[in-house]
Amino acid sequence: MLSKRVRRSALGGSAAALLAAVTALVAVGIPSAHAADQPLRDLAEAKGVYMGTALMASELSGTSANIAGTQFDSVTPGNEMKWDTVEPNRGTYNWGPGDSIVAFGQAHNMQIRGHNLVWHSQLPNWLTSGSFSNTELHSIMIKHVTDEVTHYKGKITHWDVVNEPFNEDGTYRSDLWYNQLGVSYIADALTAAHAADPAAKLYVNDYNIEATGAKSNGMYNLVKSLKQQGVPIDGVGFQAHFILGQVPSTFQANMQRFADLGVDVAVTELDVRMQTPSDATKLQQQANDYTTVMKDCLGVSRCKGVTVWGFTDATSWVPSTFPGQGAATPYDENYQPKPAYYAIQAALGGGGTTTPPTTPPTTPPTTPPTTPPTTPPGGGGCAVTYGVNQWNTGFTGSVTVTNTSSAPVNGWSLKWSFGAGQTVTQAWNATVTQSGAAATATNLSYNAAIAAGGTVNFGFNANWSGSNPKPTAFTLNGTACTVS
Ligand code: G3I
Repeated sequence: MLSKRVRRSALGGSAAALLAAVTALVAVGIPSAHAADQPLRDLAEAKGVYMGTALMASELSGTSANIAGTQFDSVTPGNEMKWDTVEPNRGTYNWGPGDSIVAFGQAHNMQIRGHNLVWHSQLPNWLTSGSFSNTELHSIMIKHVTDEVTHYKGKITHWDVVNEPFNEDGTYRSDLWYNQLGVSYIADALTAAHAADPAAKLYVNDYNIEATGAKSNGMYNLVKSLKQQGVPIDGVGFQAHFILGQVPSTFQANMQRFADLGVDVAVTELDVRMQTPSDATKLQQQANDYTTVMKDCLGVSRCKGVTVWGFTDATSWVPSTFPGQGAATPYDENYQPKPAYYAIQAALGGGGTTTPPTTPPTTPPTTPPTTPPTTPPGGGGCAVTYGVNQWNTGFTGSVTVTNTSSAPVNGWSLKWSFGAGQTVTQAWNATVTQSGAAATATNLSYNAAIAAGGTVNFGFNANWSGSNPKPTAFTLNGTACTVS
């Protein structure tokens, strides 16, 4: 695992347009996709796992980038590191798309899962129709693996070195690699990848291996054999492209038997598809399915994390591959969290003391609080510490409020003014609204009470440009606080 990472957010595009949109969003008090939600990445890290998403290069700005950078601490390129993109012509590399994913991941302190090096699909024409001899094909494969892993050396935490090598019956897939090179292509690819970046964790990844059964047994026997031969294999990726209500009951036990071979495991491409349109019943079943998968991973100490194959229905691969099916991810097409999102959050130990909603917010809540909650700090005051972690045009604010009075506070509203046009885009552990420079954070149900001498913490992401001075004055329920 990487060390604890700092939440960050990057927002691309026009600052003015964004500011207008964000101000409107914040002003009407949309709980958002995000307000009050503890970012999944923080919850995951507290559990010792990562929470990842696939992202495509087209998703690295705007709302998708904002959510991905805030909620997830691992990213897998959806297509950008595949052979047809990386080496469209023999020996000519196109690193740009993959590099953009890496840059995004680094800017947001994410782990980066490289996907993938040797696969039967998304191969360039020069390779599939080249009629190469076995010897030449082998050297082409080794060179591609070596060059790609070398290019990303030190930047990729995990590589899907070989992807989808099995048929459903557990025999090896009849593809370019197996047909010409035999099963040793897998060991050779792993060995070449390890030589190029000894620190990267090397995985074999497949779908329909989640349940015990023939295909899973094929993978099991492969891994066992590779370990016995001393081939550098570190983990098995379970893609987990599930159908609603069909998460196999043997998933956890199956991951455990792989772990018992001495490899890590990970859920690498999770989604749960359904017949569309969705409805509340299906979405609740889907939430249950996500809960099951999260618990299955958390129940295996060598399960390193879970990656969703796209976090939003807006860009999911499912509808184009399975006509009539979709709604497979934790966020809907409007980038609003679905019950599945809250299920992941709860499985990771989040959600505060309140029950996660069972249906996603369909309409913005009405008017934000116009008057601060009543109880002022009695007989004393408050102290605020305001921390900032900033980058290019964004920053995360971390606020701790201490009730320094002798009486408890029950319901609170913290007000301050931004000095240089900073605009809040989302918040957690509080609802933050903003009107011009004036910002107001109000409590959520689970942190309304601050005991005498007690503290609450909340955080937010925001944009800045030019300068980002810290606010110099805060009031808690109308009473001025000391600031540090
Ligand atoms: O970029 C072109 C676009 O220019 C063109 O107009 C459009 C028309 O079809 O195609 C676009 O490319 C598509 C590409 O995704 C980017 O969206 C390809 O057709 C499409 O085939 C490709 O699908 C990808 C699929 O792998 C290919 O097998 C999905 O995005 C990607 O999510 C999916 O990911 C795979 C994993 O790598 C392995 N496991 C299964 C998973 C789901 O299929």
